[in-house]
Amino acid sequence: MQRRIISGKNTDQRTELYVLKHKDKEIAIVQMDVCTGRLKRAAEVLLPEELPAGCGADGSRLPEWWENRAIPDSRIGLQHVLAGAGMQTNLSLMLSSYGLSLTDHYWMQPAERKLYWKDLNFYENIFSDVLGNLLTDTEETGRKNALPGNLSPSFSVNGDMKKKWVIREGARCLLKVTSEYYGQQSVNELIAVRLHERLSWDHYVPYRIEYRKIRGTEYPCSLSPMFTSEEREFVSAYQLLLDYKIPNESSLYEALISRAVQSGMEEERVRRQLEYSIMTDFILSNTDRHLNNMGFLYDSKRRFFCGMAPVFDTGNSLLYDREESLAKTNLLGLKVNSFCRWERDLLRYVKNSSMLNLEKLKDFPEEAESLLLKYTEMPVKRAGEIAGTIRGKIRYLTLFQQGKRIWKQGKYW
Ligand SMILES: Nc1ncnc2c1ncn2[C@@H]1O[C@H](COP(=O)(O)OP(=O)(O)OP(=O)(O)O)[C@@H](O)[C@H]1O
Ligand SMILES: [Mg+2]
Repeated sequence: MQRRIISGKNTDQRTELYVLKHKDKEIAIVQMDVCTGRLKRAAEVLLPEELPAGCGADGSRLPEWWENRAIPDSRIGLQHVLAGAGMQTNLSLMLSSYGLSLTDHYWMQPAERKLYWKDLNFYENIFSDVLGNLLTDTEETGRKNALPGNLSPSFSVNGDMKKKWVIREGARCLLKVTSEYYGQQSVNELIAVRLHERLSWDHYVPYRIEYRKIRGTEYPCSLSPMFTSEEREFVSAYQLLLDYKIPNESSLYEALISRAVQSGMEEERVRRQLEYSIMTDFILSNTDRHLNNMGFLYDSKRRFFCGMAPVFDTGNSLLYDREESLAKTNLLGLKVNSFCRWERDLLRYVKNSSMLNLEKLKDFPEEAESLLLKYTEMPVKRAGEIAGTIRGKIRYLTLFQQGKRIWKQGKYW
């Protein structure tokens, strides 16, 4: 250990050595570019079995893993936040909070210091989110008795929507805010919750709505209780596949299932949730079920994958970003960011379509319409057209359940 402390600073001025820790275990010595916050490489792996999933036994995929935990460059308002925090990049911002997060149990300790998980982690310690207001444009006050130095879990959470972690009655919750599209993305999360409830699916994140004032106007925002814990970390499908070479003959979908099974997950469980997600995303025209919007839970103490993460992030659905002619939309012609390019093609992966009892959705389109009208200021016509898209999708899914190959788009089924 002494040797590492002595070599804490590298000859290159910008590079410093950090210890990648898993709670208090020292996993690897890594070279960090402290200006850009980039993880340059693993200099020495101390406990390969404790490296983040998908990073390879030699830690060679750690740089990508590190980047994927940060606020993406594409998040609107990032530059404003960096200026407010006096940081150069999203990665140096994350490093300023030691890379601590509320999604996993990894963090970075400067090699010459001795710091402890119990004093710093956000699961047990309360945090003030002074910079959270900058991250979300909302007007809130910070908390007293919080961790010092503006440490924030909101610097190590990915996704494009503006968001921050908050504490509500002792529980950590992720608040996602938007002032665009009438705030429809937030209400979409609630509509998805109602869909899961009706279908008696119990593995989903129970989003609720809270209003937030953004530049003087109130918008509906979504609040989701943390599905991770001090025992369980989130490993996204993206992360699990980082070091996996997808065989030529395999689809991305089947590659994910193989990799999950290799990692100890029960195949039936994985298939069941993926098929459920494909069908419910289809009903809601969710175009964004990418590999960071699904994943697994890992028990970090007993070191095993203990299940799928609950279904979360269904905000980018129900044609939220289309302004006009919703009623004229070709519901079998939607492009998605997922295992396939076209939404309809995803249905080919579904083997057990009968798991969804569509009888339970009789007045679901009307319920979605009334939720949109209750929580947003969108025109009545738009809410009605959105309900119409749900109705149309349920009709198509009924045909699919009857054995019609609806991806052939009407011509051949
Ligand atoms: N309730 C939660 N508990 C724990 N981690 C969460 C929770 N909700 C989200 N996360 C983590 O935060 C990340 C971003 O959240 P989310 O996907 O909801 O954001 P987004 O901005 O809508 O994403 P996208 O860019 O896909 O639209 C997730 O990939 C996951 O790692
Ligand atoms: Mg997401």
